[in-house]
Amino acid sequence: MQKSHHVEHPISELIKNRKSPRAFSRQPIDADRIRSLFEATRWAPSSTNEQPWVYVYATHDQTELWDKLFSCLNESNKVWAKGAPLLILSLARKNFTRYPGANAHAMYDLGGANSFLSLQAVELGMQVRQMAGFSYEKTIEQLNIPDTYEVGVFMAVGYPGDPETLPEKLKLREMAPRERFLQNEFVMNHIF
Ligand SMILES: Cc1cc2nc3c(=O)[nH]c(=O)nc-3n(C[C@H](O)[C@H](O)[C@H](O)COP(=O)(O)O)c2cc1C
Repeated sequence: MQKSHHVEHPISELIKNRKSPRAFSRQPIDADRIRSLFEATRWAPSSTNEQPWVYVYATHDQTELWDKLFSCLNESNKVWAKGAPLLILSLARKNFTRYPGANAHAMYDLGGANSFLSLQAVELGMQVRQMAGFSYEKTIEQLNIPDTYEVGVFMAVGYPGDPETLPEKLKLREMAPRERFLQNEFVMNHIF
């Protein structure tokens, strides 16, 4: 499949400047800025306006809760996430609150909300790296998550850091140009 390293058509600066770093500055994030990240999720669209997203967060200085979140990550993520000033676990309510039954779009909506959060982070000079590399069982156990919630992804959030602080292999990946499929690989103006 064809790829390129470039933005091929004009896009929002927020989208252009978003990326998922592994090197984060130790600089703490002010409480009001954390509120802005979650405020952005409030205004994300969702099926029937259910807003199924739920977040558990901890700042690095909230040692007990931060350590609980951190302990759920895979070793490959712990290597770089150990300095992240903010860790977030995203979850979705499995069932509708106003109708009987399961919400088939809960995870879809959670992904949308997480994208809003990621772009709001860019607006505030920060970046987010999402993580699917974690133990579901440990997360449920450590955070006492009821069965009515679906675990989504973890997120590490912070201001940009120095790639030199990363292990060599990750440093090279951090500095490599980002690559994307060209639109002709996934956008169709015709039927299959
Ligand atoms: C659902 C999801 C899960 C991800 N899981 C991990 C992960 O466990 N570890 C990691 O280092 N990056 C993870 N990432 C980050 C992706 O690798 C990254 O978004 C992708 O390489 C594109 O890079 P960019 O976000 O800088 O454009 C994940 C991203 C998403 C959306």
